[in-house]
Amino acid sequence: MSDKVPVPITAVSSPAANTQPVAQAQAGGLGGQRVPLTDSARRVRDSTTAARRDSGAASVLRSIAGRETQPAESVFKNIKILKGIPAGRLVNIMNMGFGRSLGVSCGFCHVPGKWDVDDKEEKNTARLMFAMVQTINRDFISKVPVDTGAQRPVVNCMTCHRGMPRPMGPDGPPPGNRPPGAPPASGG
Ligand code: HEC
Ligand code: HEC
Repeated sequence: MSDKVPVPITAVSSPAANTQPVAQAQAGGLGGQRVPLTDSARRVRDSTTAARRDSGAASVLRSIAGRETQPAESVFKNIKILKGIPAGRLVNIMNMGFGRSLGVSCGFCHVPGKWDVDDKEEKNTARLMFAMVQTINRDFISKVPVDTGAQRPVVNCMTCHRGMPRPMGPDGPPPGNRPPGAPPASGG
């Protein structure tokens, strides 16, 4: 079984792109006043979330031990968008492609342990987002001229989300995510 990943999948899960740290507003404060976290508070929060994701991923990997290279749809129960990729690779996309890009843990889209169930709206939104990203790369980015020898850029979840579940929440990007000199979110 080839471990080669089809291009659209790489586009979603590539951990390298656009990883600038982002001073994210306080979680849960989307409707009201958003208090930017200090850098150290943000690091603590991010590492806790990452640790929770890693343990979710590790528990799934244990449960499919020996079948990591089989196609995801033959190992898991409810695969609609990630067909054809190795099952172990799917788990990595969940962790580094989806979870890390949104700055969330597995529970944002799943009731942990009931991975196949589609009971959370966020899981279905993620499927829509995945289709959107594939379309952007296939139909548009593919037509943008690139310098000879340069790698074609790809859009992935990190491109927009940058560690946040809502890149354009009601208040716009949080202050720490705006370039210096940019107008306030509400301005003009
Ligand atoms: C942003 C939303 C999101 C996050 C975060 C997320 N997942 Fe998923 N997960 C999905 C979607 C969407 C699918 C369905 C993929 C498909 O239809 O091909 C899925 C499918 C799965 C499946 C396959 C279940 C089955 O039997 O069909 C497993 C296992 C899984 N996720 C584990 C995890 C783990 C472990 C984490 C945390 C490390 C995680 N997911 C984080 C959205 C997410
Ligand atoms: C072109 C920019 C862009 C890309 C690329 C993108 N998203 Fe999104 N995403 C958005 C926007 C905008 C929203 C809506 C935010 C809001 O409601 O304020 C959103 C919302 C979501 C939500 C709902 C969040 C919530 O709080 O309910 C999920 C889940 C999500 N995206 C997952 C993904 C995943 C997974 C990927 C990669 C496959 C991805 N997105 C790629 C722009 C993007």
